[in-house]
Amino acid sequence: MAILVTGGTGYIGSHTVIRLLEKEQEIVIIDNLFNSKLSVIESIEKITQKKVNFYCGDVCNRQMIRDIFMRHNIKSVVHFAGLKAVGESVEKPLIYYHNNIMSTLSLLAVMDEYHCKRLVFSSSATVYQDAKTVLPEQIGTGIIEGKAISEDFPLNATNPYGMTKLMIEQVLRDIYMSDNQWDIVILRYFNPIGAHESGLIGEDPNGIPNNLMPYILEVAKKKRPYLNIFGNDYPTKDGTGVRDYIHVMDLADGHVKALEHMESRCGLKTYNLGTGKGYSVLELVNTFKKVSGVDIPYRITGRRLGDIASCYANPSKAEKELRWKANYSLEDMCRSAWKWATVKNLSFNGDEENV
Ligand code: NAD
Ligand code: UFG
Repeated sequence: MAILVTGGTGYIGSHTVIRLLEKEQEIVIIDNLFNSKLSVIESIEKITQKKVNFYCGDVCNRQMIRDIFMRHNIKSVVHFAGLKAVGESVEKPLIYYHNNIMSTLSLLAVMDEYHCKRLVFSSSATVYQDAKTVLPEQIGTGIIEGKAISEDFPLNATNPYGMTKLMIEQVLRDIYMSDNQWDIVILRYFNPIGAHESGLIGEDPNGIPNNLMPYILEVAKKKRPYLNIFGNDYPTKDGTGVRDYIHVMDLADGHVKALEHMESRCGLKTYNLGTGKGYSVLELVNTFKKVSGVDIPYRITGRRLGDIASCYANPSKAEKELRWKANYSLEDMCRSAWKWATVKNLSFNGDEENV
């Protein structure tokens, strides 16, 4: 019996595959390598000393998914595959709706055909985004530091990426309503950062990084002269944005727990995966400086469109029901990210760089 991992060569998928292989699970990956590299498979096999079955292909290709189900006895699926850049999704909504929605519909249809009804889905804290948006009249009043977000928080999305997550969540709820033989766990991730302790895999974005940690790494590596900090006038502890950064290996463990939870039938469940702690941009920068010993020059610029002041999880539901808790500290996250950037030849804009 195998676990199918879509998007398994990507950032979160590859770290999760490692944890699953360590649990002696047979793994089948499908990824079209749109945002990842084939060499990740080699790294996974080197770290775990175990083999994975890899298919390079698109999850939208229903026949290909069928072929995989014909060849392997798939007992459950972890569905990571998707496009995830918020800004790009505003510019190219059709591509986002097509890729994220079509891939999920194809996958679900084939799972149904093969009576494989166990799915873990990668959702995002972005589905809570609108509710946490700071209104212009609230800026500088100091009235919102933000409160921990629990799963029953109102849902809304302000960009096509977030909308695909909301739509897929709704599809999953409808499927479960129509057939409660399904077991579905929706995981809403907060801000994953960090890397596997080996330094052999980590986050490897193409082009100019959108997210904070990959950008910090490029500044640390002197690839970029300074970090732009998007605003220091938010009603937060030091005026910069606050997020719930979670170590990618803690996130990986959350998936293992979700799959275990399904073994005894769980129905449809939704969990936040976060630490419950919020750190500001400056706190992250200072922690990175401390653990790496490398300076991170920065400039304060205007706010980034669509950003919110503060966003952090109430993870108590996952703690109670999945018996999962984030263990790694912010220092651990920074240390492992820096190791990944230095030990491995981190590729910038697709060019392998020798360090
Ligand atoms: P990633 O881009 O590193 O990994 C996604 C993988 O899916 C990539 O390897 C890509 O090549 C592949 N892929 C995309 N579309 C595909 C398709 N149609 N067919 C086959 N493969 C396809 O991203 P990640 O950070 O590992 O994110 C994994 C999932 O978690 C995504 O669904 C993302 O939306 C979600 N998520 C990520 C974050 C984050 O901050 N990283 C936060 C919340 C949710
Ligand atoms: N930031 C900077 N400079 C940068 C990049 C980011 O100051 O160069 C700031 C942002 O303004 C924000 C914080 O760093 O305050 C974190 O920004 P990220 O872009 O790293 O993360 P976001 O919280 O904006 O969004 C990420 C993913 C989303 C996901 C969300 C879940 O990009 O896809 O986390 O909470 F939905």
